[in-house]
Amino acid sequence: MSDAERLAGAGAHLLLAEDDPSAARVLRMILEHSGYRVTVAPDGETALRILDEQGPPDLLLLDWMLPGISGLEVCHSARQRWDALRLPILMVTARTDPESIYAAFDAGASDYVGKPFRGAELRARIESHLRTQRLWAERQEMEEHLAERDKIFTLGLLAGGVAHDLNNPLAVISGHAQVLQRRVQDPQTAEHLAEILAAVDRCAHIVADMLNFARRHPAERIPVDVAQVLHATLGMRTRKLATGGVDLQVDVADDLPIISGDGHQLQQVFLNILVNAEQAVGERGTVRVTARAVPASADDRDVVVEFWNDGPRIPPELLPRIFDPLFTTKAGEEGTGLGLFICRRIVREHGGTVEARSNAEGTTFTVCIPAHPPAPPARS
Ligand SMILES: Nc1ncnc2c1ncn2[C@@H]1O[C@H](COP(=O)(O)OP(=O)(O)O)[C@@H](O)[C@H]1O
Ligand SMILES: [Mg+2]
Repeated sequence: MSDAERLAGAGAHLLLAEDDPSAARVLRMILEHSGYRVTVAPDGETALRILDEQGPPDLLLLDWMLPGISGLEVCHSARQRWDALRLPILMVTARTDPESIYAAFDAGASDYVGKPFRGAELRARIESHLRTQRLWAERQEMEEHLAERDKIFTLGLLAGGVAHDLNNPLAVISGHAQVLQRRVQDPQTAEHLAEILAAVDRCAHIVADMLNFARRHPAERIPVDVAQVLHATLGMRTRKLATGGVDLQVDVADDLPIISGDGHQLQQVFLNILVNAEQAVGERGTVRVTARAVPASADDRDVVVEFWNDGPRIPPELLPRIFDPLFTTKAGEEGTGLGLFICRRIVREHGGTVEARSNAEGTTFTVCIPAHPPAPPARS
């Protein structure tokens, strides 16, 4: 293992402000030999400009005596913008009298190395700061992750409560509208009632989405025939699709292995993806659903279900976000942004994966479910 590989901060980016070319050369050599990436600024002004343009490096190394703006001033100015955890600043200087050292720390320096210095000592100090900085960054990331989970959890509780309370009045509206529908003669009134029932149906879908979002119990584990679940799901949509201009092509292999899982939940996954595909193609287009078995190991096979449609491409910058909770590009009552989030959770609980690809020809969602999921189920 080389020195560079042993170092925690290998690959870190260091900005070095040093006006003496030969000192800069030696420093750069030592630092690059340690595996760091180094940018050299010959004066304080350049250092500040680089900070402005590129943002903070992983560590700032400053010579005190620089032409124009001094290293101490650069230190002070950088410290105003980034705290010591985000940007460690090391002063490297021949001024080693106590007053100068105090002044450097006063200006916000994290550390101080007197010239002439030993390469090993400089490296040890840099490493120590980079290590602290990395730990801090990891911690920050973890906190953000926890906050996000917390938010989703609270949202789930809230959504579950609201959805539950909405179910009863929705049933009342739907019941009365159906009674009226049987009684009315006037076609115009019947049309209004049909509109009301369609709206109630949409609300019921949203409520079902929200209840599922709030659901915390794991998937069931019983033998499931994926082909059967798929046909049942497609059956729910065929009539609707046939009346529109959507061409639904289905190719389900008849040798799919029986998997261990929860049929109702898988039906929901397929339905969500299918409805998304329908919405993507709109009035006219093609939706193709295929299912096949793929060898996973010597004696096991995965079930792979693919949904393809020729609707407009998902922009590459949005693709990584479509599985996020509440992410939707659909206006008004069309979307809740919960569908794919729930899909992914269910599929993961089955030990599987769901992925999306999109290009000019169309969009593909691939669901892969292992016949025998590893226990215990993965929670997301
Ligand atoms: N087949 C598809 N084609 C294009 N975009 C899609 C497709 N499926 C999903 N999306 C995008 O992913 C987003 C999130 O989908 P989803 O979680 O089901 O929420 P919703 O359908 O309520 O918007 C959609 O708003 C849409 O932008
Ligand atoms: Mg959806």
